[in-house]
Amino acid sequence: MASTYFKRFRMEADLLIPRRPPVLPEGYRLVAWNEALIDAHARTKFQAFCEEIDAVVFPCLGDLEGCRRLMREIRKKPGFLADATWLVARVVAPGQHAWCGTIQGVVDRFGTGMIQNVGVVPGHRGLGLGSLLVQQAMGGFGRAGLRKASLEVTAENASAVKLYRRLGFRRARTVYKVVDDTARAASRGTAARTSNTSQSASPGDAILSHS
Ligand SMILES: CC(C)(COP(=O)(O)OP(=O)(O)OC[C@H]1O[C@@H](n2cnc3c(N)ncnc32)[C@H](O)[C@@H]1OP(=O)(O)O)[C@@H](O)C(=O)NCCC(=O)NCCS
Repeated sequence: MASTYFKRFRMEADLLIPRRPPVLPEGYRLVAWNEALIDAHARTKFQAFCEEIDAVVFPCLGDLEGCRRLMREIRKKPGFLADATWLVARVVAPGQHAWCGTIQGVVDRFGTGMIQNVGVVPGHRGLGLGSLLVQQAMGGFGRAGLRKASLEVTAENASAVKLYRRLGFRRARTVYKVVDDTARAASRGTAARTSNTSQSASPGDAILSHS
């Protein structure tokens, strides 16, 4: 069966470079991780990703149950870092809020802070929340004593690549994620066709490098 390979960039940033603290837009607040928020992360992730290219590349992101499963997997990872895992909420009325952004951080076995699936719900984009979440996760990695942050982004997700570059991330490697024909038929974008490559297993989890 033919497969489509999506080109993804592994990007890295030096955490030792001093950065300005993130600024929270008015009406929004950051919410730190606690175990009771796992479903809020999953639902926010689903809302942020379900109409996006990454839901084609990683079909679990286009499905609420898939997002719940993914969140449980991230939480169970030995390197899960609560201080790099955040939600953004919009205060809609006193005591009431809507979830609008999510990010998780995991320390890999080499001591690199891996950013997992930053997502901002449509309607709350372009206000700086995506940048804020990435900076917040980087801050958590820094407080944990890490020197390097890393992430993976689908090459055609130009706005996300631009955001990461603005925050100091630079391309370190190119990796490929294989998607079978069924998922490919749902793809709205262009995909790089390659052969003899390995693949990324799950969002933010690169297996293969291809210089
Ligand atoms: C990628 C994503 C997280 C960005 O979220 P966001 O909240 O829109 O990000 P930001 O607002 O920080 O930055 C987006 C743009 O808004 C601009 N912006 C930032 N602060 C702003 C402000 N206060 N007012 C107006 N615009 C602002 C930024 O300049 C940026 O534009 P640029 O990158 O062209 O310079 C969001 O589009 C998303 O969830 N996409 C779907 C999921 C996804 O693909 N995630 C990435 C996986 S690797």
